Amino acid sequence: MKMKPIVKARASENLVDFFPSTPRKDLPYGFMKLACGLVLFMAGTVLGMAMRAQFNWYFTSHTELFFPEKMYSADCERETMVLKYFVKPIHLMHKMTDDELFWRATLLPKVQEYPFKRVPKVAFMFLTRGPLPFSSLWDVFFKGHEGLFSIYVHALPDYKINVSKNSAFYQRQIPSEDVQWGSVTLLEAEKRLLANALLDFSNERFVLLSESCIPVFNFPTVYEYLINSAHSFVQTYDDDSPRGRGRYNKRMYPAIKQSQWRKGSEWFELNRELAINIVADYKYYRIFQKHCRPTCYPDEHYIPTYLNMFHGSLNANRTVTWVDWSREALIQQHMDGRASLRVLSIPSGTVEQSARTTMSQLLSVISLLGSLLLALWNLCSTLPQRLWTSDFLRDIVCSSCSWLDCAIRKH
Ligand SMILES: *[C@@H]1O[C@H](CO)[C@@H](O)[C@H](O)[C@H]1NC(C)=O
Ligand SMILES: *[C@@H]1O[C@H](CO)[C@@H](O)[C@H](O)[C@H]1NC(C)=O
Repeated sequence: MKMKPIVKARASENLVDFFPSTPRKDLPYGFMKLACGLVLFMAGTVLGMAMRAQFNWYFTSHTELFFPEKMYSADCERETMVLKYFVKPIHLMHKMTDDELFWRATLLPKVQEYPFKRVPKVAFMFLTRGPLPFSSLWDVFFKGHEGLFSIYVHALPDYKINVSKNSAFYQRQIPSEDVQWGSVTLLEAEKRLLANALLDFSNERFVLLSESCIPVFNFPTVYEYLINSAHSFVQTYDDDSPRGRGRYNKRMYPAIKQSQWRKGSEWFELNRELAINIVADYKYYRIFQKHCRPTCYPDEHYIPTYLNMFHGSLNANRTVTWVDWSREALIQQHMDGRASLRVLSIPSGTVEQSARTTMSQLLSVISLLGSLLLALWNLCSTLPQRLWTSDFLRDIVCSSCSWLDCAIRKH
């Protein structure tokens, strides 16, 4: 008779009783247990994923706030036949795809002189998930300077900024897509903002800001400083650490060499020429899209690296935004203190994102634990007593199961 030597005496007697001739029947039961466990494990995973999706949905969707249909239904064809509307679209909402938009935004007139009076403007581009808590402050900043600036807001696709008609932010949302912080979709949003702002031929300087930015100087100071600057303000530096060069991917070679790789703040200021070049670039953008994935963050590397490769002389290599990292204690301050326009920017997106990730991981773990307990419980209640090869194991598992059973029945 084939017997497992390790099985305890009483248990083996039971086994002998039950399977007098073929103890190999253990095997299918083992498989059954395994399969059962696997199914439950998968169910747990699916449940976890579903909960995570729902959680994301909860965070990213503000369902009831869709754009009114009339904002989309502007008579675009008639508008373009009038130069006034070609050089400055009156409706920011349009139905162009990104590719169509990028193509149109990067058209360059060959005639050097403008056939209209062009007053250069500063485009303030706000990249936000939802509300703009400092919009009233910005309204005070912009007040009285109409014609010298334009505003563009990229929010979540179904979010509608609620401001009064008098606000500078009124109807300044552009067609937006979902943005995941740290992914290439953030870069797409930046390009979308640039391209929409480029449609207005009077925009000369392009500043990217977040919803947590506030102006530190008054409008005339900022305007004069930017319009008269020979340089653009994109922070670029060569960081010889895992957070800098460590994010370079060898697969980018030979198009991008490691010596050309740069890092910098996401918040940039570009002149029109550089803005057009960045929107028009597909070659390097695609390389980043393919090879710069977490823990490589495209928004911290693409524009600094691209400018360093082709337009270094046009860049001041520092930002005009200043970040108060003290609240974050995440990274030491890299910013150059000489920046003349100081804008406070707290990257709340990053914080929210990490909180969200932790929360959804927690949910996954909880549901996984739940399904494991459920699997054990099932094992106890369905597997006949005598099939347990070890009394010790059965006691442990089944006593915890009956405890669980009690706990559940009590409620
Ligand atoms: C928009 O804001 C006004 C007041 O500022 C408020 O009365 C109104 O309910 C808000 N609308 C939405 C959809 O939140
Ligand atoms: C910024 O760095 C580039 C090299 O990438 C250099 O050519 C340029 O002169 C620098 N700009 C300033 C203002 O120093």
